Amino acid sequence: MGVGGSARARRRSTHGWRVVGRSLKLSKKVAGVMKGYLPAPLLRGQVVVGCMFFRHRMKLLDKIGREFSGYNIFESGKRLVDRKPLQCSLYVTDRCNLDCAYCTEYDNSRPHPSLDDLKKWIRKIRELGTMRIALVGGEPLVHPNIVELVRYCRELGFATSLTTNGFLLTRKLLAELEDAGLQVMQISVDRMTPSAITKKSFKTILPKLDYFRDSKISLHITGVICADTLPESRAVLETGLSRGIPTEVRLVHADPLHRFRVDRGPREELERFIDSMIERKRRGEKIHTSEAILSYQRSLLRGEHVEWTCMAGYKLFFVSAQGKFWICSMVHTDKHIMDVTLDDLYANYRKKSCQRGCGVYCAVSASLLVEKPAQVLGKEIVARAKRIPSMFRRSLTPDTDKATHGAIANPDGTHEMNGSTEGGPSADEGVTLRENA
Ligand SMILES: C[S@@+](CC[C@H](N)C(=O)[O-])C[C@H]1O[C@@H](n2cnc3c(N)ncnc32)[C@H](O)[C@@H]1O
Ligand code: SF4
Ligand code: SF4
Repeated sequence: MGVGGSARARRRSTHGWRVVGRSLKLSKKVAGVMKGYLPAPLLRGQVVVGCMFFRHRMKLLDKIGREFSGYNIFESGKRLVDRKPLQCSLYVTDRCNLDCAYCTEYDNSRPHPSLDDLKKWIRKIRELGTMRIALVGGEPLVHPNIVELVRYCRELGFATSLTTNGFLLTRKLLAELEDAGLQVMQISVDRMTPSAITKKSFKTILPKLDYFRDSKISLHITGVICADTLPESRAVLETGLSRGIPTEVRLVHADPLHRFRVDRGPREELERFIDSMIERKRRGEKIHTSEAILSYQRSLLRGEHVEWTCMAGYKLFFVSAQGKFWICSMVHTDKHIMDVTLDDLYANYRKKSCQRGCGVYCAVSASLLVEKPAQVLGKEIVARAKRIPSMFRRSLTPDTDKATHGAIANPDGTHEMNGSTEGGPSADEGVTLRENA
């Protein structure tokens, strides 16, 4: 072989090792073999660059994987075809540290339920085959045993989320919840600054977002739209999305007697806002709900009929802070959860007289998902796929990438299992996590 030929061969061999170095975490054995081909300083450089490249690519693949993690067919698919429930929202307390004017879901005259009672109800909920549990309230973080409750849910194999106003969240508490196995946290943020209607604003929550920087807990943000919040709803959405946090704002709903506690806001402006969110969702932005639910809200505003069958009380149900079985946050029963059977649940698989105008979006979302999985998930998957090119672009500029938080950016919008009484599973949410039931 001539001189040129051996130089070509060396170049080929060097290039080959570069590829290996980039693609694999170099084991000692491989590095040892490479020693024979490359000088030591060059080899060290190759190993460092290779590992960095590898880590970078793996992070990107991990992100892409997470974009679709909500569609684990094996874990969630069963509940689309069997008769067992997918999700339960458990009120761990009725008590709350705030007093949002639109809310009918807190009552400070009641004591917290005991840890023993809650554990008993949680076991029963699991025995019914429920996969996901959303810890709600009242304000779940005011319950003194909230960390232990999360741990217990996880020990029983539940995919576990928690919905909070975030006021009591500290770095230490978040670490404890993470250690207990919490997977998803929804923080409710309605405005940029507090008002007489709602104190849930980014003024309180923005400084806390940093807690999530290295957390495994997937964060998403949800706000309520009404006349008071509408002028700031766009800014709430922008603030969440610009930080890579799946964010959703949704129309205020009526109370169990079909009364609106607050002014809903001008219909045309609301409709334009919902339209703009549908557009953004289609472009692949991290709006933390499905297009189906956004369209549903637009139909609500227009007074249009929507064809669906409410699965509340069957595929998803609620348990009150007194252990009562509730069909949803708005429709209550006196039956105790300990007396509920799968047949009782199945009996709620029917159209309901309260469907018209229903604002329990988690119930609408889960119902549409079970009824029309291909349609709902298909659109969601297409929307998420549109995020992939921008992920590649960001992956080439690591510093920008670092600006968004790993866990925060976790798109598991999928985890729409946020138990928020109405927030529940967004398209995303729908169907994630592990099942041992
Ligand atoms: C009842 S709260 C319980 C958890 C926690 N206290 C919080 O505010 O996040 C659950 C969710 O329901 C939302 N919510 C309460 N009343 C509502 C209403 N009338 N319309 C729309 N959302 C409402 C809250 O904003 C929150 O996101
Ligand atoms: S929405 Fe949440 S924070 Fe506001 S009053 Fe209701 S339970 Fe409390
Ligand atoms: S239609 Fe709405 S309000 Fe009626 S039971 Fe279903 S989720 Fe509840």
